[in-house]
Amino acid sequence: VAIEVNLRSDNVAGAAPEILDALLAANRGTESSYGADRITARLQTQFSALFETQCFVQPLATGTAMNALALSLLTPPWGAVLCSSLAHIHDSECGAGELFTGGAKITPVGQENGKLTSPMLRAHLGRVAWGGTHQAQPALLSLTQGTERGTVYSLAELAELTGIAREHGLRVHMDGARFANAVAALGCSPAEVTWKLGVDALSFGATKNGALCAEALVVFDESLREPLRFRARKAGQVFSKMRFVSAQLEAYAQDGLWLRLAGQANAMARRLALGLERLPGVELLYPVEINEIFARFPKALIEGLEGDGIGFYDRGGGEVRLVTAFNTGPEQIDHLLACARRHPG
Ligand SMILES: Cc1ncc(COP(=O)(O)O)c(C=O)c1O
Repeated sequence: VAIEVNLRSDNVAGAAPEILDALLAANRGTESSYGADRITARLQTQFSALFETQCFVQPLATGTAMNALALSLLTPPWGAVLCSSLAHIHDSECGAGELFTGGAKITPVGQENGKLTSPMLRAHLGRVAWGGTHQAQPALLSLTQGTERGTVYSLAELAELTGIAREHGLRVHMDGARFANAVAALGCSPAEVTWKLGVDALSFGATKNGALCAEALVVFDESLREPLRFRARKAGQVFSKMRFVSAQLEAYAQDGLWLRLAGQANAMARRLALGLERLPGVELLYPVEINEIFARFPKALIEGLEGDGIGFYDRGGGEVRLVTAFNTGPEQIDHLLACARRHPG
């Protein structure tokens, strides 16, 4: 039997069986609409337990909607949203953040290994003309955890960054499209990496890690709840059959499924990284800390793997990205590596 290996993105994977089962269960009988259903109600209790604090969860359909809604809650239209120069909100969401905030300025500040660093943030804030109407006023720090380059902020790094944000009166958003992968990698609690460090709103991703289409914007500040409910509706993100999005999230967060799925994806990326490192001419471009590998491959290897039908993302200039998913298995990794060994650079 041919082994299919497609590591172009974690979005190419299907959904986890536990989540599909939850959908079938949610399909029995009738339920109230627009989020007044029992599953959405249970989600509030479940997430408050998961995060060890009272929080509010808005089930949404895309990561972009989560991020743009989060930004709209946390900055005025004249605010600047500081982020890494590789942040998804900056270069991959078609200006949704700017649109939803009514024109706040998304401002890339720099990056190292996909992360914003404290010196970069301090230096940027030191140059701001506070109070002058010429400049959008920094109002929000947005950090991606795990990052767009497959790295993870340590708790100490986050504490420093969020501390600087607080010193300057900025609120904090976390883009957790791969939050599960980051928490699995850190081995910490979700509370430790979010509200305990001053994160006001978390984009809690699920789609990339086993859901069909389910994301959850989690806000830790009670005063954000009503604005979020109304903004979500205005953005066309309140589903009449919300129970089906909520059911995915409930199954995902139940009994640690989200961390088991992410742990598998992370482990397969490590296995792949270890194998790739040993190949002549291959260079890993960033530490492999979650489920994404960015590497430089010799031309012969890129062409060879393409010829073998192995799926990966060719970023051009010899750079490639390979992303494992919750259902990637060792046999796929080993097949990819066996193919790769046949195409020396
Ligand atoms: C870091 C990060 N944030 C947000 C998103 C947005 O998700 P979506 O494509 O569902 O809008 C992605 C998707 O690739 C992402 O990688």
